[in-house]
Order: sequence, then C-alpha cells, then structure tokens
Amino acid sequence: MILKIGKLFIAAVIFTGISALAVSAFAASGPALFRSEGCIACHTIDGHGGSVGPNLSHIGSQRSLSWIKTQIVTPGAHFASGSTVTINGKSYMAIMPNHKNMPASDVNTIAQYLESLK
Ligand code: HEC
Repeated sequence: MILKIGKLFIAAVIFTGISALAVSAFAASGPALFRSEGCIACHTIDGHGGSVGPNLSHIGSQRSLSWIKTQIVTPGAHFASGSTVTINGKSYMAIMPNHKNMPASDVNTIAQYLESLK
C-alpha cells in the first residue's frame, strides 16, 4: 500500500513537472505577444516597429504596471479616442484600439514586459 502511494506520488510529481514544462514552452512571451497582437505595427521598441503611436523602449520608467494594463484594455480611459494627445513632446492621434477581448494572462504578460523596459 505504502509502495503504491509512493509510486502514485512520484507519477504525480513527474506529471506536474511535464505539464509545467509544456505550459512554459507554449505560453507566448511578452515580446512574442507584442508582435502577434499587432502592437509592433504602431509602436517601436529598440528600433523595431511603427511610429503611429509612441516609442515604448523606456515605457517602464514612465508608466506603472497597472497604468499599462489599463492602456491595453481600455486606452479611452487615458486618452479620449480621436483626440490629439501629446506624449513625450510628440503629438499623436489617439487611435489605439482597445483589447477588451484579450485574455487577462496575455494582458499581464505584455504589461509586465513593457513595465520592465526602463
Ligand atoms: C493602430 C495603432 C496602435 C496599435 C495596434 C496599438 N497601439 Fe498603443 N498606442 C497607439 C497610439 C496612437 C497611442 C497614443 C494614445 C492612444 O491612442 O490611446 C498609444 C499608446 C500606447 C501606450 C502609452 C504610451 C505612453 O508613452 O504613455 C502604451 C503602453 C501602448 N500604446 C501599448 C500598446 C500595446 C501593448 C499594444 C498591443 C496590444 C498597442 N499599444 C497597440 C497606437 C496603437
């Protein structure tokens, strides 16, 4: 009996290890999501990307994690849609799309990545 429980325990530990590995292999990283979600079309990081929106290379030294999360999900909470806004001395038309349907885990991953850019 004890032997059986021991084997089950070992099997469970191995299984948990494998699924943790699988999750980390398949969960997209911040930089990957930044590309696949289309942020890069409008925003530049370290010399790559578009210029419709502000350069985000140092966004982590300007905005907090929660501010960035809100910006991704509801940009209108910060900038009136369609208005002209000035960020770091440059003017932009506030046209960032909202990402209300983005899974919270992806919002967190992108926001944490951006917040790390100091
Ligand atoms: C169609 C172009 C476009 C896309 C796509 C886009 N943005 Fe934006 N973004 C903008 C514009 C324009 C602004 C300026 C304010 C606004 O529109 O709300 C902005 C502002 C921001 C800001 C604030 C910058 C600052 O200096 O305060 C962050 C952070 C940001 N975007 C992140 C993202 C992320 C992350 C994505 C992808 C999930 C994304 N954006 C997708 C155009 C875009």
